[in-house]
Amino acid sequence: MKYSALIQNRKSVREFSDRYVSFEDIDKIKTYYSKSVRRLLPEVETELRMFGLDARAVLEGAAGYKQFLVGSPQYMVLLSAKAPGAGENAGYIMEDLILKLTDMGLDSCWLTFTDSEHVKTALEIDSSLDVAAIAAFGYGVKTTKRLRLNVLSMSKVDVAAQRQYFSPKKGVGDLVFLDSWGNRDGVEAFIGFYDDMLWESFYAASLSPSYLNRQPYGFVLRDGRVYLVQAPDEHTGEIDGRLGLGIVLLYFSALAEQWAGKLNWNLEAAGALSLPEGYKAIASAAL
Ligand SMILES: Cc1cc2nc3c(=O)[nH]c(=O)nc-3n(C[C@H](O)[C@H](O)[C@H](O)COP(=O)(O)O)c2cc1C
Repeated sequence: MKYSALIQNRKSVREFSDRYVSFEDIDKIKTYYSKSVRRLLPEVETELRMFGLDARAVLEGAAGYKQFLVGSPQYMVLLSAKAPGAGENAGYIMEDLILKLTDMGLDSCWLTFTDSEHVKTALEIDSSLDVAAIAAFGYGVKTTKRLRLNVLSMSKVDVAAQRQYFSPKKGVGDLVFLDSWGNRDGVEAFIGFYDDMLWESFYAASLSPSYLNRQPYGFVLRDGRVYLVQAPDEHTGEIDGRLGLGIVLLYFSALAEQWAGKLNWNLEAAGALSLPEGYKAIASAAL
């Protein structure tokens, strides 16, 4: 897939037409999932389930920003075994599927949830795996309205969520630091050393979707490694936080791997940075 273009074109769509996605296209998505989808932790068992329009009513109250379930004729749910890094892995996989949908001309929107068992009961999912990620997809209603999303609180989202909007994202300069968190000195020169490739990878990362568009993370470049750091955020819960970290790892990796080869993210030994209180190194990889 042409990740750079897909990442730049993808946006959350919250209003869908009644048009169903064809069986053929659903099969394409399933085949992509089983044969080609990118995985952060291939050893963690996952399963993809698809649901139709019936799911809309039962998901009400179980998923989506407060009182606002994105109505769509199709939903996909990623199930996962419990494991360290399972949340990040689910974010990584689901976002790769979402980019596949974008490639196929389909629109989508992530749906938040807090209780796997609640969603499993609502959708009558009988499995030992947990619900790890949910997205609505289909054909978006075309609109010329592009509103800015006010993301400071849930109540402000409710106002904007009635229509489509695009969400302004953090720039590369707010996301990438050299040697220590918050240090911008020398970042440009360092990135410049890699021609445009490293910059493009961080630019892709800056476009990552996140819960309420909070983007509670950043990168530190140090000693030839890139570290993903989770920033504290009072609005983002555990599940959404981990999904967002997986998504941003996918965006960065999909571009960086085009020139750096396969990145081996180490999710365990990422503690070499001294970070401000509440910040946490999540993963690191050699560049
Ligand atoms: C883990 C996660 C959960 C999300 N949950 C919801 C949701 O429940 N409802 C919704 O309308 N958007 C949801 N979103 C979409 C974000 O609001 C959206 O990605 C963000 O505002 C950036 O906009 P963009 O996707 O158009 O770039 C979620 C996104 C992520 C990554």
